[in-house]
Amino acid sequence: MLNMDGVSVGYGDAPAVLTDISVTVRPGRVLALTGSSGAGKTTLLNAMAGLLRPRDGSVTVDGRPLRDRDHAVEHRIVLIPQDNGLAPILTAAENLQVALVAGGVTPPEALRQTAAMLDLLGLAGQADQLVEELSGGQQQRTAVARGLALRGGVLLADEVTS
Ligand SMILES: Nc1ncnc2c1ncn2[C@@H]1O[C@H](COP(=O)(O)OP(=O)(O)OP(=O)(O)O)[C@@H](O)[C@H]1O
Ligand SMILES: [Mg+2]
Repeated sequence: MLNMDGVSVGYGDAPAVLTDISVTVRPGRVLALTGSSGAGKTTLLNAMAGLLRPRDGSVTVDGRPLRDRDHAVEHRIVLIPQDNGLAPILTAAENLQVALVAGGVTPPEALRQTAAMLDLLGLAGQADQLVEELSGGQQQRTAVARGLALRGGVLLADEVTS
């Protein structure tokens, strides 16, 4: 369970983007966050993902304070970033395989899971294509495939419907 309590976040010396935010992400539940452009959705997700340290308040995962992104990864908090975060010079399949192997999956199992997930997202035909040669929507589906393949305890999906 991911919990935010009285969180304020911002950048540099600028005024806080968000103040006094409290939210609980519970297992098995889907939580939607909406807001106008610039409202702070990405900022909030980055704080939940351990990428941005709050100025005030606490972010805890299973009751323990979230230290940084590495700590969040240890607790299987997966982020699908707004800009997809894929390595453009790797193929679609390699982007999934690298992430899976880095997470401790054996290479043969990573190959198997990658093929299954790309198939599920309708990308079987694009597996060996470089990301920079995929269409925008295919790139986003590759990012979704990678996020799902990592089987996070928490999956943070920024602009997932775009
Ligand atoms: N790295 C940064 N440095 C300084 N200010 C930033 C940075 N990232 C975002 N901001 C500012 O924080 C505010 C919230 O931005 P954020 O990206 O969280 O909005 P958003 O709700 O995700 O918007 P969108 O729907 O356009 O993606 C904006 O005013 C933006 O200019
Ligand atoms: Mg955003």
